[in-house]
Order: sequence, then structure tokens, then C-alpha cells
Amino acid sequence: MSTLPDSPTHATARGFFPSALHIKTLETEKREACQLASNRKVVLFGQLFRYSNHPSIPISHIDPARRPHYLSPMAIRPILTAPDPRLREVSKPVDAVTDEVRTLMNDMLETMYAAPGIGLAAIQVGVPLRIIVMDLAEKDEDPDPHYFINPVILDPSEDVAPYEEGCLSVPEFYEEIERPARCVIEFLDYDGNPQRLEAEGLLATCIQHEMDHLEGVLFIDHLSRLKRDRILKKLKKEQLATAS
Ligand code: NI
Repeated sequence: MSTLPDSPTHATARGFFPSALHIKTLETEKREACQLASNRKVVLFGQLFRYSNHPSIPISHIDPARRPHYLSPMAIRPILTAPDPRLREVSKPVDAVTDEVRTLMNDMLETMYAAPGIGLAAIQVGVPLRIIVMDLAEKDEDPDPHYFINPVILDPSEDVAPYEEGCLSVPEFYEEIERPARCVIEFLDYDGNPQRLEAEGLLATCIQHEMDHLEGVLFIDHLSRLKRDRILKKLKKEQLATAS
């Protein structure tokens, strides 16, 4: 927390008034907290994976006192849902990691936490850029946001691991998907520095799910055509019902 006071109490104690932007952030957090509390039972797992020994992964992320230092005021953006054709776009590489890109990533993180989810690709908020945010921290852990810009997957293992996956863009549907159990990821981080990460377990599965989004692929594309079409049909029906 480098520039903004981390709570109104602090602000008063230090003798300055919290900025309008900061107040907005606090309000957003309050709203998120309420939303998450009401979702506690639902446990969407958001982007991904419902599995029973992690019953409340997404709830962890709302501790206003523990925001990463670089967070600027953020905005929740609408998440596209299938069969929106934009989700089928192939995302383009990021040329330079600018403040604009960081603002997008901050918004994506806020959107993901609010959903709640544990991973989100930029195309899910309608921006066709090769950017992924993720936070796999559990409830009792500090938030642990990760940013992957222009990620590349190397050396996927031959052995596969099954996870029951879900997706914020395919709400309410969960299916077991098998993917390589381990892989290496090369990417640029929040500051634009190149990084290399060996992934296994949930991280490996999550990054592969998100990488699919960058190619316009959804997890339901790994299912049989029959199953996929059934899900898409139901989603479309729900959207039409909501729209009318
Ligand atoms: Ni997804």
C-alpha cells in the first residue's frame, strides 16, 4: 500500500482525507464482500474447478486491509457468457506492458474476485489481448494475484490430471476435464518482466484453461459435441429468457 491509506481509520489518524477514488474502492470492496457472503453457499469457483476439499476458494480474497500495493482504483467489468461470439476470438499479443494494460489487469482482478472466480482471461471482459489474471489462494491465505501477459505453455506432461472445471463464461455448468498434469509457463509479469514458472496441480490446470480462452476455446469444447451443444442450448435459452 504505497500511496493510498489502507483504511478510513488510517486516513484520519494520518491527518488526511481519503480521496474520492479511495472511497470508491472501499465501497466496491463492501459490495464485493456482501456479494461474496451471499454466494458463500454457491461457491462458483468461478473460472474453474469445483472440488470438495476447497469449498470456499474465492471467498478469501476480500480483506480490504490486505490489498496488494500496486492496486489502483479498479472497476468491475461485465463478463461475456457463451455463446457470445467474442469468446471465440483469438487474442492478440500485448505489445508493451503499459499503465493502460495494468489498469485492464486491475479491473480483471476485481471482476474475477467479485464474480467470484480464481482465473480470468481478458477476452472474457471483451478485450482480445493475451492477458490472464489468477489467484489460487485459499480462504485463510493472503490474496495471491498472478498476472500472465503473452503466456506460452512449454513441455506439457504426457500424464494427465482430471479436474471438475467451470467457467465464468459458462455459468452454472461443471464438467470433468483432463489436461496435462504439469507444464512450464513463460510470460511477462505485471511489470513487464519475463518469468518462467513450473506448474502442476490446480495451477497447471487453471493456466491451461485460461490459455484456451486466448485461442477462443472454452472448456466445454473438450466435451463431446452432444454434451457441448446441450450446454450451449441451455445457456442461450437462459439468455433469451433474461433478455425478454
Ligand atoms: Ni473460463
